[in-house]
Amino acid sequence: MSVPAPQNENILGYGPGSPEKKEVKAALQELMAEQFEIPLIIGGREVKTGNLGKVVCPHDHGKVLATYHKAGKEEVQLAIESALSAQKMWQTLPWEQRLAIFLTAAELIATRYRAKLNAGAMLAGGKTVFQAEIDAACELIDFLRFNAGYARELYAKQPQSSQGVWNYTQYRALEGFVFAVTPFNFTAIAGNLPSAPAMMGNTVVWKPASSLVYTPYFIMRILEEAGLPPGVINFVPGAGSQVGDVCLADPNLAGVHFTGSTRVFHQMWKTIGENIASYRSYPRIVGETGGKDFVFAHPSAEIPSLVTALVRGAFEYQGQKCSAASRAYIPQSLWDRVKSLMLAQVGRITMGSPVDFRNFMGAVIDRSAFESITGYIDFAKEHKDAEIIAGGNYDDTTGYFIEPTVIVATDPEFKTMVEEIFGPVLTIFVYQDEDFVETLELCDKTSPYALTGAFFAKDRNAITLAMAKLEHAAGNFYINDKPTGAVVGQQPFGGGRASGTNDKAGSQANLARWVSVRTVKETF
Ligand code: SER
Repeated sequence: MSVPAPQNENILGYGPGSPEKKEVKAALQELMAEQFEIPLIIGGREVKTGNLGKVVCPHDHGKVLATYHKAGKEEVQLAIESALSAQKMWQTLPWEQRLAIFLTAAELIATRYRAKLNAGAMLAGGKTVFQAEIDAACELIDFLRFNAGYARELYAKQPQSSQGVWNYTQYRALEGFVFAVTPFNFTAIAGNLPSAPAMMGNTVVWKPASSLVYTPYFIMRILEEAGLPPGVINFVPGAGSQVGDVCLADPNLAGVHFTGSTRVFHQMWKTIGENIASYRSYPRIVGETGGKDFVFAHPSAEIPSLVTALVRGAFEYQGQKCSAASRAYIPQSLWDRVKSLMLAQVGRITMGSPVDFRNFMGAVIDRSAFESITGYIDFAKEHKDAEIIAGGNYDDTTGYFIEPTVIVATDPEFKTMVEEIFGPVLTIFVYQDEDFVETLELCDKTSPYALTGAFFAKDRNAITLAMAKLEHAAGNFYINDKPTGAVVGQQPFGGGRASGTNDKAGSQANLARWVSVRTVKETF
């Protein structure tokens, strides 16, 4: 048996009358009509705590889609025990058998659950159908298929040599459990973080973000249907203070696979540091955290593609992608043309319910995001170093809606130019053409983050210089393209500095973090 070579899943078009459009509309109706309870899933069993949270629609916060049970410390302890007791069975299963389960899940998503997952990401995540399709369908399927391929390559190349003696290595799972903590903004990432360590033989305790429990629960069910044995992945939504505290205090913690805020990641790392002497092994810590992703234009940049990058990069999914364009550096010589084209495009953006397929933008995820983002907008409104040239209004009467907002800052270190906002707010600094090199340096040093960045130029020397000056400013560096939309198998995703450990999601390097290698030498 061997693992088939992966291919990227085709993005469906959802055009008028298309079968996929009919299917997703039916799934939307179905999900809106039923309200169900989401249990914890521990050792393959449903566990209900009665301590309930609500899943609501960001575009209509009065609409409850589901309730979910929150884990308390006892349930988390149970989840850890169940992960530990499933370990032996899972690790002794041949790796081909393990990977086949995840490939089956990918197939189930592609053929049976695509509409449901997409509808879920639209309703609970606030995505348009296109944003849902590239995430909850394609990126998730790609993670499962490509990681299975990378795992196969890793296992196939466990080095051997025999020069008088026999040397070989064994790629074993880590000793202990992996704690996966997943974000609200990508269903695909939510599926990837528990799956990648599990593919390599680890068992997992999975805490989804409280603001996205809905589609992760669907994934958990799909994995079960694909044949995932009980206890391999244990699904425990709940408060960080309950789930995180118990997992990080456990001596069997073998790894953390995290995507979320820099603040939470720092806190977790600190706790792990404090507990370090109590662990059996040093936990592997893999995290993707914040960003302040840039678009930088050289005077030789082509304007239409630059403007598309600004508008799509900043405002698709309401600017809530880790990769979203959040700050831009535009040369004075291009500014008038960039500004008028950009304002025309921003002016045409439609915003509203994702159920209406004509909308380009939806609402931001929840009240706390709404308050934090609008706080930045208000700050800019009051400040003399900034001018809001588009948007600036917001309304949370029905849903958490914030207009696509463009701020022009005269100070390159203005608050909205350097701090992560994670919403539909783009801040632009217009630089003098002759200050190109100095502005590259500013771009590099004024933000602590280094996730994605896009550089626009036709001039090859400018591109070479930018790549050198911004060497560590972006883990994913795009030349003449927007900073969002990394495709698994094509642009492995992740950044350094305050953006994470840069153990690229969807790569062999990431999977290698989830094995503990034993070197064996036998003498005859
Ligand atoms: N693929 C996403 C992006 O690059 C991240 O998961 O926007």
